[in-house]
Amino acid sequence: MSVTILAIESSCDETSASICIDGKILSNFIANQTIHEQYGGVVPELASRAHIQNIVPVVDSALKKANVDLSAIDAIAFTQAPGLIGSLLVGGQFAKSISLALNKPLIAVHHMQAHVLANLINDPKPSFPFLCLTVSGGHTQIVLCESPSSMKVIGETIDDAAGEAFDKSAKILGLPYPGGPLIDKYAREGNPDRFKFPEPRIEGLNFSFSGLKTSILYFLQNAGKSNLYKEEFRANEEEKKIFIENNLADICASIQHRIVTILLNKLKKAAVETGINDICIAGGVSANSGLRTAFQEMGKDLGWNTYIPAFEFCTDNAGMIAITGYYKYLEGNFVDLTVSSSARAEWK
Ligand code: KG4
Ligand code: ZN
Repeated sequence: MSVTILAIESSCDETSASICIDGKILSNFIANQTIHEQYGGVVPELASRAHIQNIVPVVDSALKKANVDLSAIDAIAFTQAPGLIGSLLVGGQFAKSISLALNKPLIAVHHMQAHVLANLINDPKPSFPFLCLTVSGGHTQIVLCESPSSMKVIGETIDDAAGEAFDKSAKILGLPYPGGPLIDKYAREGNPDRFKFPEPRIEGLNFSFSGLKTSILYFLQNAGKSNLYKEEFRANEEEKKIFIENNLADICASIQHRIVTILLNKLKKAAVETGINDICIAGGVSANSGLRTAFQEMGKDLGWNTYIPAFEFCTDNAGMIAITGYYKYLEGNFVDLTVSSSARAEWK
């Protein structure tokens, strides 16, 4: 029996729809919302309105690209949590409407679990159990994944997420939102060892990025002379601007290097503690070229089998919702129309 899933993702500022047949993604259409750039971050109310405008054409494009008619859908999967509540509600209500109109089952998907399962989209796939470092704008987690429906968070950030560390650093450098991809771009030309930023001392498998952000702030306020608070080094706005302009690539490379080493040192610790060798990364920050290269090099050195989703399945996308929906369909894990979207969701 063939299974066709329509999936919808709308947790933040990307409206996306995907068609998956028997675990193969046939389309993954993503509409980005550029309106937030001028505000330096996602404005929730504007995101909801843009989702409302985008959702019909996005679903339509996903169906057309896959050459699938709406009547051929066996189930509708949607991101139920976590995310911006207004954004989640648009995708959730739309999914419920289609489910009601077609009389087809509805599947609620946890966005962070879907990021992990994006690693099951393409071959080769990791074997269970595997570890996944999930790094996005709102989360940083090490997940122990025993099966598509059994996952445990064994480490997470106690303050900022890795994506936030990239975006906030970029904002301090005067770069537009989202700054993560721009730091990645400038870092390619820079020397990662030129400037030293501290690695936080956090017990166990948890992460912390807020101290790094503060040290970058002081470093720039001091025009690179120190990354501690020093009144005597305090530069005026003009001096600070000139320092950034003259050293942008090295600053970006050094910041990126520190974020990547914080992430990978904890991932290595998790691999040693669990004895697991199949290791994945996922989430928007896994699109970072420095992280991808360093992760693969570490994997080679330590004898890991490493997996990274294809680029289009790293940042927010409905393909990952579709693959998760497919596994939930096989388990008969459906919800009814009374299901509510939730900004914060317990890990299930
Ligand atoms: O997973 P995602 O698309 O959305 C959330 O669920 O948060 O992740 C978005 C985050 C943003 O912080 C963005 O700056 C970061 O991923 N990001 C990157 C890169 N591409 C996206 N960070 C560093 N380098 C990149 N190439
Ligand atoms: Zn995400």
